[in-house]
Amino acid sequence: MPYYRVVGEVPRKRHVQFRRPDGGLYAEELMGEEGFSSDSSLLYHRHLPTAIIKAEAVTPTAETRLEPNLPLSPRHFRTQELAGAGDLVTGRVLLAGNGDVRLSYATTDQPSELYRNSMGDECVYVQSGRVRFESTYGAIEAGEGDYLVVPTGTIHRWVPDGPVNVLAIEASGHIRPPKRYLSQYGQLLEHAPYCERDLRGPAEPLIVEGEEVPVLVRTRGGLTRLVYRDHPFDVVGWDGYLYPFAFNINDFEPIVKRTHAPPPVHQTFEGPGFVVCSFCPRPLDYHPEAIPIPYNHHNVDSDEFMFYVGGDYSARKGSGIDVGSISLHPAGFTHGPQPGAVEAVIRAVAEGVTTTNEMAVMVDTFRPLDLGQGALSCEDAGYAWTWAR
Ligand SMILES: [Fe+2]
Repeated sequence: MPYYRVVGEVPRKRHVQFRRPDGGLYAEELMGEEGFSSDSSLLYHRHLPTAIIKAEAVTPTAETRLEPNLPLSPRHFRTQELAGAGDLVTGRVLLAGNGDVRLSYATTDQPSELYRNSMGDECVYVQSGRVRFESTYGAIEAGEGDYLVVPTGTIHRWVPDGPVNVLAIEASGHIRPPKRYLSQYGQLLEHAPYCERDLRGPAEPLIVEGEEVPVLVRTRGGLTRLVYRDHPFDVVGWDGYLYPFAFNINDFEPIVKRTHAPPPVHQTFEGPGFVVCSFCPRPLDYHPEAIPIPYNHHNVDSDEFMFYVGGDYSARKGSGIDVGSISLHPAGFTHGPQPGAVEAVIRAVAEGVTTTNEMAVMVDTFRPLDLGQGALSCEDAGYAWTWAR
C-alpha cells in the first residue's frame, strides 16, 4: 500500500508499553511483508494473537483440478450459468489458474467463516450486490464495482447483504499498484489513473467478543482450521502501510489517445506473473480517421482473461459475449474484433457516437492459464469459430 494509515488507538512510539484500562498490556503484532524489508503494520490486540487451542486438517471440498487449454482455443465462459453454493470463500468455483494466480467466481448470500489466506494477496472484484468485509484491521463496506485487496495473512470474513457475485483473484504473492505509477517512495504519481483518495481502508477498529473461534487457514500445504482462544477481531488500533483496502472501478480515470491505446493504459494492479486492468466508460479515440476499437493482436507472452461486467461490447458483436461473460484469449492465438465490428464503429462515429460505455476487468497472465472445471461447465463451445463466420 502506498500510504500510511492509522486507525484507533496506538502508543506514541512503537514497541513501548501500551496498557489497557485494567492496567494489563495490549499485545503488539507486526504484520509485515518480505522479511521485515517491505510494507508492514503494527496492530494492538486485547488478547494474545498467538493463543490457539486446536488445529485440525480440513479436507478441501472445492474442485481444484486444472487442465491445460488443449486443443488450444479461445474460450468463452458464461458465469451467468454458474450456480451458487457455500460462501465467498468456500463457494469459489475455479475458472482458471496457473502457478502464479487462481481465478474463481462465487455467487452467494451466505456469510463466510473467518479466513486467512497465507499463500498470497487476494483481489476480490464485486460484480454485483453489497458485502461487508470484516477483518482484524476493521470493516469495509463494499458494493458493485469494488476491488477489495486483502493482504496475505489478513484474518477476515465476508458478510453479504443479499446475493453477491464476485470474481476472486488469488495471487501467489503481493498485489500492488503498477510500479510505473509510483514515486520512489510509493506515492501515486500525477499520471496515475487513480490516487490515494480513491482507496478506502478501514476507518475504525472492529471489536468482536468471543472465545474458541475457528479460522480457516490456507497454506501451500492445504487447509487447516485453527481455533483461537479469543476472537481475532480484538484490535484496538493499528498503523502502517499494510492493510486491506477497496478501490471502485468507477474511480479509475481512463487514459485516452487520439488513436487506439493498448491495454496497459487500463492497468490497475500488478501481482507476480499477472496484471489486473479496468476497462471503463471513456471517450472513443478521437483522431478523425481513428479506428476506435482494438486492432487484431497477438500478445505473445500473455493469456488474456477478460470478465465483461457492464456496458455494451460493440467490438464483440456476434460473438455471444454479454455481461457476465468471460473470454480467454491465450498466447498462440491472434484475437481481435468480430467481423464487421470495425466498419460498424466507424459508421457509429460518423453518426455522432463519441463514447464507449464498456466495462470489463481483465487479468493478463504471463504464463499459460489452465482451465478449471467451473469454467468448462459453462463454456460456450462455438465461440472459437465466431471470427470465421
Ligand atoms: Fe486483447
